[in-house]
Amino acid sequence: MDFNFSEEQIAIRDTARDFSINEIAPTSIERDIKAEFPFEIIKKLGEFGFMGMMVPPEWGGAGFDTISYVLALEEISKVDASVGVIMSVNNSLVCYGINHWGTDGQKERFLKPLASGIKLGCFCLSEPEAGSDATQQKTEAIKDGDYYILNGIKNWITNGKNADVYFVQAMTDKEKKHKGISTFLVDKGTEGLETGIKEDKLGIRSSDTCTVSFNNCRVHKDQLLGGEGTGFRIAMETLNGGRIGIGAQALGIAQASLEASVRYSKTRKAFGSPISNLQAIQFKISDMATNVEAARMLVLEAAWRKDMGMEFAKEAAMGKLLASKTAVNNALEAIQVHGGYGYVREYLVERYLRDAKITEIYEGTSEIQKVVISRALLKD
Ligand code: CAA
Repeated sequence: MDFNFSEEQIAIRDTARDFSINEIAPTSIERDIKAEFPFEIIKKLGEFGFMGMMVPPEWGGAGFDTISYVLALEEISKVDASVGVIMSVNNSLVCYGINHWGTDGQKERFLKPLASGIKLGCFCLSEPEAGSDATQQKTEAIKDGDYYILNGIKNWITNGKNADVYFVQAMTDKEKKHKGISTFLVDKGTEGLETGIKEDKLGIRSSDTCTVSFNNCRVHKDQLLGGEGTGFRIAMETLNGGRIGIGAQALGIAQASLEASVRYSKTRKAFGSPISNLQAIQFKISDMATNVEAARMLVLEAAWRKDMGMEFAKEAAMGKLLASKTAVNNALEAIQVHGGYGYVREYLVERYLRDAKITEIYEGTSEIQKVVISRALLKD
């Protein structure tokens, strides 16, 4: 692994950094308080090619590598993790899945507008009784001539309210259990597709999350992705890459917590000098920096392996596991460094903690990451 970034990777990182500071930061506090979706920001990210970063240009994407994606996503999430997850779901889950398994017709119809940021996608896997235990889903797709009729409920769907394309897992053959799951690409506005009320969340409040239900929703067979029965494999392989994205999002929060602590500790005085002179604070900052660097190396290694065409599921799970834990710990420590000021909205670090917690839950809880890692280590 080359530890130097290429000129292009550095330019992408810097573009993301400048955009985040100039265009995302000014509205992030208000959007968090009001739980407002960042429509304009997402549109501009699309214009930069950031909504389909790893999709080839012929299908509307930017054709960048996964390392560039991690660098950009970390910068964006450092300023606003809500924007980070909207971007991550569109890139790593929806665009990746269609690019990898879609026919040319599906790429033309669905991928081009998604990768160029004209449309937004969401990933519908989880159900009320099938979260971590994803094989237990109940949504059905019954064949009816050239169509499938979808019925069921998906929940915790990021981008659910504002998506134009729904990437949906549904059972086409219940007898075959998870091997009878298939993937469908469903357009917004299809009769029978309904979204529930927006969840009132602890963090990442500017992203939208809701229930999506399918009530006799008729979908043409051309909207079946990858063939009947391949849906669970598509979901699992797609999530392996998704975990790199959420790892990068967590890195952004962890790094933001570290930088806020460094800044604050140099200006806040106690016992006659800046608190950065106190060993109690210095040790916190050392630990925060060491952990975020270790997590970054793991997330980047997973990205590098993916770019090299190597196995990366274990490394992606390790990267997400450590980065999400570090995001939560660094945010907690940042609040401690800020004392009472850390507990109020004005100083941002309380939002870092609220935003960090979800990274230990979505795209596989930390416990699921340990399942993935241990199975890779213990298999024959
Ligand atoms: N990569 C590729 N394939 C995998 C895989 C992985 N990481 N994990 C499992 N599989 C495959 C297995 O090889 C197996 O394939 P075969 O049947 O062909 O042999 C199949 O999936 C079933 O696996 P298991 O027999 O191991 O099933 P299990 O029930 O014991 O474990 C699980 C499955 C790993 C726990 C899986 O259910 C899982 O990953 N759960 C977490 C789901 C998840 O991450 N949800 C996130 C929701 S999406 C989201 O959060 C997006 C958002 O909005 C931000």
